[in-house]
This record gives sequence, C-alpha cells and structure tokens, in this order.
Amino acid sequence: MTSATLAPGVRVVVARFADSPPEAIETGLAVEPMPAPDPATLGPRDVIVAVRSAAVGWVDLLMTSGQYQHMPHPPYTPGLESAGEIVWVGHDARGELAVGDRVLVDGFLAGPRSLGAYQAYGGFATYVVAPAEAARKIPGTLTYDQAASLLGSYETAYHCLITRGRLKAGETALIHGASGATGLAAVQVAKILGATVIATGRSDEKLAVVKEQGADHVINCRGEGDAVRPFRDEVKALTGGRGVDVVYDAVGGDISLESLRCVAFGARFLIVGWASTPFVARGKGQRGAPNANLLPTNLIMMKSLDVLGCPTAISTAQDPGSRAPRLAQVLAWAESGQIRPHVSHTFPLAEFKEAMRAKWSGAVIGGCVLHP
Ligand SMILES: NC(=O)c1ccc[n+]([C@@H]2O[C@H](COP(=O)([O-])OP(=O)(O)OC[C@H]3O[C@@H](n4cnc5c(N)ncnc54)[C@H](OP(=O)(O)O)[C@@H]3O)[C@@H](O)[C@H]2O)c1
Repeated sequence: MTSATLAPGVRVVVARFADSPPEAIETGLAVEPMPAPDPATLGPRDVIVAVRSAAVGWVDLLMTSGQYQHMPHPPYTPGLESAGEIVWVGHDARGELAVGDRVLVDGFLAGPRSLGAYQAYGGFATYVVAPAEAARKIPGTLTYDQAASLLGSYETAYHCLITRGRLKAGETALIHGASGATGLAAVQVAKILGATVIATGRSDEKLAVVKEQGADHVINCRGEGDAVRPFRDEVKALTGGRGVDVVYDAVGGDISLESLRCVAFGARFLIVGWASTPFVARGKGQRGAPNANLLPTNLIMMKSLDVLGCPTAISTAQDPGSRAPRLAQVLAWAESGQIRPHVSHTFPLAEFKEAMRAKWSGAVIGGCVLHP
C-alpha cells in the first residue's frame, strides 16, 4: 500500500503547555488536518496503524500542562495508548506483521511518552506510526477499546501490587480510586492473586460496578463537600480489627492520612498516584513540587510501615529488564480472558474535549476512549 491509497485524516494537537489540564482542554488543544504518513519517509521496520480507539488517560491530561514527569515537546499529539488496524508494514517487518492485523500500540515504545521520532505520533489521530516492536497483536478477544485500555493500567497494577507490594493470597488490600483506570485494574489483579479487596470511592453507582468487577467490599468515603468521610472503623470491622496488609493509594490527600489509621502492623503502603491533589508540580511545564502530599512519620514508624513509591514508567526506565515478565503476564491474562478492561465512555474524536472533561471530572469508570 502506498501513501496514495491512504486518505488524509485529522489529529488533536497540543500547541503549548497550559497552566492546568482544565485550561488546556478549554484553550490549548485543537483538531487539525493530518496528511497520511508517507511510507517513503518511514523506516524499514515501521508500521502505520489506522487508529480505531485511543485511551484518554489521566497521564494524557497531566501532560497537557507539563505536570507529568515526562514532557513531550509541543506541538504534540496526545494519546499514550491506542489500538487499531495495520494499514502499511515496512519491508523488514513483513512476516511478523501484516496489513489488516489488529494491534495495540505500546505506549512505552511509541507515542508521546516515548523518546525519539515516534513521540510525534499520539493516538488522538487517524494514524499512528510505530516501530514493529510497539505494534502488539491484540490478545484474546479484547475489543479495540479494551486493547487501548490494557497495558498502562494493568502494568501499573502489576508493578504496584506484585513487584513493589508483594501482595499474597489470603492478604487484604485496600484499593483507593478503585473506579479509575489503574484502580479497577488493581481490583482485578488483586483478585487473581487471591487477596481480599476492600475498594473505596465517592459514588455508590460507580462502586456497584467496582463490586461487579470483583471487589469483595466497597466503601463510599464521600463526606461533606470535598471532604473524605472517615472509613477506619469499617475497614477494621472488615478485617477483624487487624487492618489491611496493603494500601493501593491512587488518590492521595486526606484519603492517605485516613488509611494510616486502618493498616496492619508491618503493612505495605503503595504510593500509586494522587488523583485528588493533581497540582503537585507547577503548570506550564515548570518543575518543582510546591504542593506535594505529606505523610506523618509517627504513624509510619509506630506501625512499622513499608511506604513504597511505585512509579511504573520511571522504574522501567531505570531497569528495562523488569518489564518483560510483567508484560508477558498481563498479555497472558488478557489472552486467557482473566482480565478484560472495563470501558465506560466512548466518544468520536471530534468530541475529544468532552472525553477529557469526563475523565478529569471522575465521571468515567475504568477506561474512556476516542474513536478517530
Ligand atoms: N504509579 C504509576 O505508575 C501510575 C500509573 C498510572 C497512573 N498513575 C496515577 O494514578 C492516579 C490515578 O490514575 P487513573 O488513570 O486511574 O485515573 P482515573 O481513571 O481518573 O481514576 C482516578 C480515580 O480517583 C478517584 N478520585 C478520588 N478523589 C478524586 C478527585 N478529587 N478527583 C478525581 N478523582 C478522584 C475517582 O474515583 P471516585 O470518583 O470513585 O472516587 C477516580 O475514578 C493518578 O494520580 C495517576 O497519575 C500512576
């Protein structure tokens, strides 16, 4: 197939870093025409993927204001993870991949979080160009929407619960932000490991889905306004007074502080993220962390806690060899149907602002995707 047979498309572009993701959504992003990638300009192991589904992730939002640890160079196209159909294969990759293959695009190797030439090709677009290594055949019976929502969330759950948290069968995990992309993946992975899951959230409706997805117990911790309702008594009652063995904290702020009141002696406290306090770093790509979350050392000390930072992407960059077993396990679980990402919201690409607003406001359960 030549470029002549690929129709031009469109892509979303971040022209410059905004002060915050909401500001970026309203003023900093636009859809522009995208010429079809020209195979004559591509490498012998490159492929062109016609994107069918692109995940709208929390990290995609944070990147638009340069508040994520990795900053692509504007102008860039968001979309760390996507899935679609191969429409062109470079000469040296034929035999491994073919036109028509259903693939997911690995956000570690292509797209805005990658380094080098492929950083330009985010998933919020008609086409993505990726090296053959980044185009992985979609495992099992996953849909394009599910495939685009697989690796980031489940690799995070694996890295946090298994590599860092050492979660074992018979233990109890307290999972915050359980209706979110990483949280829901963590619920499923913790259940595969044989743990008991207590999941928290702020909406009964969303928590009902979290329960359907495998959580043993759910706790609505919404208090007055934005406050966190204390949940220590419920957690202690559910654990026979002992407290939980592992906390998966993707929310941060007051929820972290309350969690320290219902952990077992020697528990592992996994710092996954801070969805409730996203403005840790300055906007517009300025660095520094003037608004970092703080934890009380007295409780950490008296309860002999292991407080573990769990940055999946940074740990992978530090130790690239750590990824292979994690990736193989996530793909195997997806192949066998043991995991299947839940995607609650789908939007056409033209409605990317509505999609990003839905993700930022917490309306989504699990995944949110765009259809170019
Ligand atoms: N460690 C890693 O490698 C890694 C990888 C990916 C993401 N993360 C981080 O993990 C966090 C969650 O990411 P995600 O992709 O799962 O996000 P997400 O899908 O948006 O989910 C976040 C969840 O947090 C809950 N939440 C509680 N308070 C909130 C608030 N004030 N505002 C918004 N949400 C709130 C929401 O659930 P309820 O509405 O039910 O309360 C929401 O579903 C982020 O901080 C992200 O940067 C870390």
